[in-house]
Amino acid sequence: MCRVCGGIVNEFFDFGRQPLSDTFLRPEEIEHEYFFRLAVGICEGCSMVQLVEEVPRDRMFHEDYPYQSSGSARMRAHFEQTARKFIETELTGADPFIVEIGCNDGVMLRTIGKAGIRHLGLEPSGGVAELARADGVRVRTDFFEESSATAIRASDGPADVIYAANTMCHIPYLDSIFRGVDALLAPNGVFVFEDPYLGDIVELNTFDQIYDEHFFLFSVNSVRTAAKRFGFDLVDVERLPVHGGEVRYTIARAGARPVSAAVESLAEEEHERGLTEQSTFDRFGTDVKRICGGLVDLLRKLRAEGKRVVGYGATAKSATVTNYCGIDSELVEVVYDSTPAKNGRLMPGSHIPVKRAAEFAEPYPDYVVLFAWNHAEEIMAKETAFREAGGRWIRYVPDVEIF
Ligand code: SAM
Ligand code: TMP
Ligand code: ZN
Repeated sequence: MCRVCGGIVNEFFDFGRQPLSDTFLRPEEIEHEYFFRLAVGICEGCSMVQLVEEVPRDRMFHEDYPYQSSGSARMRAHFEQTARKFIETELTGADPFIVEIGCNDGVMLRTIGKAGIRHLGLEPSGGVAELARADGVRVRTDFFEESSATAIRASDGPADVIYAANTMCHIPYLDSIFRGVDALLAPNGVFVFEDPYLGDIVELNTFDQIYDEHFFLFSVNSVRTAAKRFGFDLVDVERLPVHGGEVRYTIARAGARPVSAAVESLAEEEHERGLTEQSTFDRFGTDVKRICGGLVDLLRKLRAEGKRVVGYGATAKSATVTNYCGIDSELVEVVYDSTPAKNGRLMPGSHIPVKRAAEFAEPYPDYVVLFAWNHAEEIMAKETAFREAGGRWIRYVPDVEIF
């Protein structure tokens, strides 16, 4: 049943039994690893693309949640720019107030805090929330939902901006979120969120954007319909060139702001591209199977030739690739990653060991699977010595390729 409108969800791809994408294990934890059925479908009623099974939120977002947003220089720059834009355009009143849902390590709010602007981050994952606090950010270690939003309205007053990056798509309880936004948002305030864009996922075959945390794959049509259902208007959309292609949605109270032409234009483009039709997703499923087959064939061939293959970027995305394609440490011996909380642990499901990115050094392996393909430029610029030593990168989206 659709999490937004209660309609029928037609499943279009089943990845089977999958682990939690951000649970990096100690050897003794393997035995008790949690699995669920990762399958995705589209709602007949409102076209929202969503997972069919839900993982309880406390299993994913807790004290040890390892992902740190500030691990990428490009993303740090993106969020600093985002904060500056809010300061210039929306936070111009006498005593403005901004709330961020899923502020993580403070990557966006630290710029707001340094500018002396009243703010609050909501972050249920205690470890990363503490990093934000150490950076001068005011954080409430909590989930954003109707009850927490109502409490914040009572203690801090209305918010001019409610912002979320790569977090709204993690939250199945969209009804409670919108009731919370209704309670907290100022009459002419904006609710702005950005997430991986369904249009880019389908076009670039980035099937690894589908995992436990990514409950919704948003499109302009599905977000516009959802906003209306909860008493809001989608007033602007903007495509963003980060994380493989995202859209930033700006939502306001119904009738409060004019709707930009970009909304209808992108919504219309989605209809032309078949993004609300089942057949498009059947084609997507065929591509996923072809890509996985091709990647595994390549890794097996390299292994038979005695080549050394490793991975780079122990991304949440890589859990779907390794576990759906059946890639273990026989095919990819180790994955290098810069995140402290992932180092020395085992990848979810595949149990490939994770090592510090600093250990990626001479003598280099022959091939590296770039699991963090969305950070390709940044990582390749850091690791030029690998190619100079004759090494080659492997990518698997939009297709399997050695480069
Ligand atoms: N905004 C950062 C970024 O774009 O890099 C962090 C994104 S991270 C993938 C998602 C974050 O959302 C996690 O830190 C998680 O703990 C948090 N989160 C999940 N559910 C939440 C909720 N209901 N309210 C607030 N934060 C939530
Ligand atoms: P993400 O695709 O979800 O942002 O995750 C990126 C992962 O890649 C994260 O675990 C950090 C890692 N990473 C590196 O190891 N080195 C880098 O230079 C960058 C940008 C990311
Ligand atoms: Zn629906």
